[in-house]
Amino acid sequence: MIFEKVVRPRLFSLAGGDAEGAHEWTLARLAAVSRQPAVLAALRAAYFRPAPRTVFGVRFPNPVGLAAGMDKNGLALPAWPALGFGFVEVGTVTAHAQPGNPRPRLFRLRDSEAVINRMGFNNAGAAALAGRLAASPRPLGVPLGISLGKSKVTPLDEAVEDYLASYRALKDHGDYFAVNVSSPNTPGLRSLQDRSHLDALLAALVGEKPVLVKIAPDLTEPAVAELLEVCLDRGAAGLIATNTTLARDGLAPADRERAAEAGGLSGRPLTARAREMVAFVHRETGGRLPVIGVGGILHPDDATRMFDAGAALLQLYTGFIYRGPSLTRAITTRT
Ligand SMILES: Cc1cc2nc3c(=O)[nH]c(=O)nc-3n(C[C@H](O)[C@H](O)[C@H](O)COP(=O)(O)O)c2cc1C
Repeated sequence: MIFEKVVRPRLFSLAGGDAEGAHEWTLARLAAVSRQPAVLAALRAAYFRPAPRTVFGVRFPNPVGLAAGMDKNGLALPAWPALGFGFVEVGTVTAHAQPGNPRPRLFRLRDSEAVINRMGFNNAGAAALAGRLAASPRPLGVPLGISLGKSKVTPLDEAVEDYLASYRALKDHGDYFAVNVSSPNTPGLRSLQDRSHLDALLAALVGEKPVLVKIAPDLTEPAVAELLEVCLDRGAAGLIATNTTLARDGLAPADRERAAEAGGLSGRPLTARAREMVAFVHRETGGRLPVIGVGGILHPDDATRMFDAGAALLQLYTGFIYRGPSLTRAITTRT
């Protein structure tokens, strides 16, 4: 409640209300906190709750992770477990450093408890991330996932080499890798979810470390079924469902104007759709492919329903913006 009544209004008014400005400010503060062991320990005591489990051969101290995109360059890694997370997914990172789309590119739809973003994989590149991770002072204490995407300058038919270049640079640093073929903000990227593209991509990447595929909520069930066949054939370790949606359903009237912004929608309007995707994957594979459920988890009940739908692990992004670390604690206390 303190977060929603006191902290959130302040964060939302930073940088003249610009959402990305608030994000940058917060990340810089969390990066500073990451260098202060006493503060980390105090936060950890307040927010971290153990609920260990082993999924795709990796031990997770609790099942609630930070979703990709929040800390793309791994600037504040120690802060996330201190804020209650049982794993962290950095990235999406690309082989080439790139600036992303022009600003503004991140919008809050407050009455809808939602966000629209068209960041476009702004990141410092795989080599820079590898350098930062290699220089990290000590182990994180929770599994680190690394999300890989395609550089904007790379044509689609050279995508495999591009993902592979990032993977090679980073493979010693991640406990699992997420193949992001579902961001709506890189032209053509989502077509890598097709059978032939995905088959080639997984053939190149699956090997030493667990590789998970992150899917869009806008795929039809037959398209997901086909994708799952490829994932099973090629030995993917699991699925991450879902990324943001291009749909604009379920928005409050006050947010209708903002809904016209291009990009992917996350948060409350995605809750039911993401859960349906998780349930479909779980059913279709008979539970053979573990699923990380992500999308519109803003309340512990959303998390319970996601687990009931078959998710082995969860991730938060928009729920963390609107509820803060008490959401992480509330979910992990319950599980
Ligand atoms: C600002 C923003 C940036 C994101 N960047 C990425 C990204 O780089 N890679 C990725 O796989 N997903 C990215 N996502 C998607 C989230 O990881 C998550 O799948 C999605 O937002 C749904 O979860 P949520 O409703 O809890 O936010 C981003 C989401 C937001 C809001």
